[in-house]
Amino acid sequence: MSIAIYPGSFDPVTIGHVDIIRRASKLFDKLIVAVLVNMEKRPWFTIEERIDLLRKSTEDIGNIEVAGFDGLLVDFARQQNARAIVKGLRAVSDFEYEFQMALTNNKLDPEIETLFLTASAENMYLSSSIVKQVGLLGGEIAPFVPAPVHDEILSRIKQRRS
Ligand code: PNS
Repeated sequence: MSIAIYPGSFDPVTIGHVDIIRRASKLFDKLIVAVLVNMEKRPWFTIEERIDLLRKSTEDIGNIEVAGFDGLLVDFARQQNARAIVKGLRAVSDFEYEFQMALTNNKLDPEIETLFLTASAENMYLSSSIVKQVGLLGGEIAPFVPAPVHDEILSRIKQRRS
């Protein structure tokens, strides 16, 4: 059985992530969407909240699981018997960082390969940080996030203001 991990912060999940999940799920028997800790980011949502939003946003996709892991990505991949890590690549700006992570993970465990899917043209510019910024400044975020995420971001923004 081919198992792959799609890791990320997902703080919160955007329509760009869901597009990658949908496409990657067709390439493997099972795709595990894994919420992991990115030590360089200060998240708005807890890991449990991010898992919950991911589950609600991907209910119609059959062969996926959503999980959280507080450790090294390669350890999680090994634990799940996954041989592949899938990442979405947006613009050139993603490349250096993603290349560094892929090579580090390959050094940590040469048995696990990283595969990149190019973001769809309409999602090239999209990121969770941009969505939060637009929301904080009063812009319309509905085009960028799955429906279950929309209200959660707005209530988080209200909390931050009060
Ligand atoms: O969505 P992001 O923030 O680009 O995802 C980055 C993430 C969470 C996949 C990365 O930070 C990660 O793999 N964290 C787990 C800890 C780890 O394995 N670090 C070394 C990988 S280079």
